[in-house]
Amino acid sequence: MSRWTPKQTGFMKEALRLARQGWGQVSPNPMVGAVLVKDDEIVAGGWHTGPGQPHAEAAALAELDHKARGCDLYVNLEPCDHQGRTGPCTELILESGVKKVYYSLPDPNPTASGGAAKLEEAGVEVDRGLLAGEAWELNQFFFKFVLTGKPFVVLKTAASLDGKIATSAGDSRWISSKAARNFGHHIRAGVDAILVGRGTAEKDDPELSARPWGRRKMHRQPWRIVLDPTLRLPAGLKLFDRKLGGPTVVVCAPEADEEAKSTLRRRGHTVWEAPRTPGGLLSLSSVMEQVGAAGLQSVLIEPGATLAASALQEDPVADLLHVFLAPTFIGGQTAPSLLGGKGVRQLTETREVEIIKLGRMGPDIHLLLRPEGGFRPTRTQSPAPILGYGNLDDDLDEIYRQEPGEEI
Ligand SMILES: NC(=O)c1ccc[n+]([C@@H]2O[C@H](COP(=O)([O-])OP(=O)(O)OC[C@H]3O[C@@H](n4cnc5c(N)ncnc54)[C@H](OP(=O)(O)O)[C@@H]3O)[C@@H](O)[C@H]2O)c1
Repeated sequence: MSRWTPKQTGFMKEALRLARQGWGQVSPNPMVGAVLVKDDEIVAGGWHTGPGQPHAEAAALAELDHKARGCDLYVNLEPCDHQGRTGPCTELILESGVKKVYYSLPDPNPTASGGAAKLEEAGVEVDRGLLAGEAWELNQFFFKFVLTGKPFVVLKTAASLDGKIATSAGDSRWISSKAARNFGHHIRAGVDAILVGRGTAEKDDPELSARPWGRRKMHRQPWRIVLDPTLRLPAGLKLFDRKLGGPTVVVCAPEADEEAKSTLRRRGHTVWEAPRTPGGLLSLSSVMEQVGAAGLQSVLIEPGATLAASALQEDPVADLLHVFLAPTFIGGQTAPSLLGGKGVRQLTETREVEIIKLGRMGPDIHLLLRPEGGFRPTRTQSPAPILGYGNLDDDLDEIYRQEPGEEI
């Protein structure tokens, strides 16, 4: 039995819905939403729209001209108690006359935490834990990064019903439907970086930009990262187009040609080095450390068969996986499947994959999966069980309800 009433849960759900409006806009900050409630009715709401912009609590309080005497505040993260680019939310809350604060989770960032204690000392009632599981998942990119220094890694791939990601002639455009591809762009818009292997960069020449529902004008574009051990990718590829916005990082092996590295840098690109694994590929763990050191909280890998095998089996780094299955067969012994590499020899060597969500996206089947070892909170970090994929849950349920062929 929950200690919160359905109405209280509904208020926090609304705060979470508002927070989600910040998808793709707030990094390196978390997505936060807040509502103010008086006499069991929501009287104001707001969300954080990006770094340097007012926090959600401040945005909601501004709607009431900062006069909220006797109101309850619902917010999905502990109000901050520090002077950053904006002032401490605790002071605003105390000045406004808010009576009680419900928040889902404590702020894991030591510089911003302590807000709840400060409010309590000043006589404001504080209640923690409402919809903590959902609040965790909403901001799992942020939580993983703050707690581990490493980015949250999402993998996205599309295949036919027989598991092929391209034909034997290398044709892969398009296996999945427009609906699935639009959703892929929605994921792209929310991550800090998109990563591909040399094979995909060369064969598909992807732009690696976020264009959800065809929209090109974005708040910002994710970084583009390509694994090219010997720096042999042609300079004319779209991912090297400086007009796209956001940097392009080329990751090479330590022995790569120095002249080729200098040429890339002169053209304005970034070059990172990563050691080779015993199998001869670049170490993904090392790449992820460098991604984290660059302050990027999330990466979307769009893998070919070689990179998928690497990221899911050989050097596992994936936290979450989106698979789209198109209702068609491709066939052919030499057509690549979802995972290349060496594969396992015994079934006992396979890694478990948990199905988090399953639904239809346009004509395709969509699977949201958590591979074994994917990031999850400890009981002390998140007091509630994990229920789904918070930051996309509502979008997914809504999309699953669409009729095939309907524009999404
Ligand atoms: N259906 C889909 O969702 C989808 C998505 C993406 C791609 N694709 C298809 O997949 C095919 C390309 O796949 P692919 O297997 O040839 O290439 P890939 O996985 O895109 O790239 C593999 C190459 O990247 C480099 N690399 C460096 N470190 C690596 C690491 N840790 N793990 C993996 N690769 C690393 C290696 O380059 P070197 O060879 O230089 O050492 C390796 O050969 C294309 O036909 C493309 O259309 C399909």
